[in-house]
Amino acid sequence: MNNLLIVWNDVNTVGIPIIDEQHRGIVTVINSLYYALNGPRSEDFLEPVTNMLMAYTKVHFSAEIDILEAAGYPDVDNHRRQHDELIADTRRYAISSLKHDDARIMIDFLKNWWINHINREDMLYKDFLIKQAPK
Ligand SMILES: [Fe+2]
Repeated sequence: MNNLLIVWNDVNTVGIPIIDEQHRGIVTVINSLYYALNGPRSEDFLEPVTNMLMAYTKVHFSAEIDILEAAGYPDVDNHRRQHDELIADTRRYAISSLKHDDARIMIDFLKNWWINHINREDMLYKDFLIKQAPK
């Protein structure tokens, strides 16, 4: 019960302070969902934590896309498409989790998506943004 589902690691950082901070925030919320699943008050936590996740994910995606656009990242449309899909999929999984009062449905999906997205797709823009940064 006291284990974290995802342990944040420095290898997951993209080098943009606000993006790294928000990624850690998303991981925090996913870990709270995991806690909700295993904790004694799971039914009290599931809905508010799910709402928090949806709202915060949108905030983070907006910030990330704004930064990528401002930097002229060439693959921004593809990146935005992936975010849109995640929002739609998360909503679907969240509805199903809430309906069945079971966060497990959503947690497995979220863990895989975020780890893969941060470590693969977001790393693609890392090098680009570092090269763009003022010296
Ligand atoms: Fe992203």
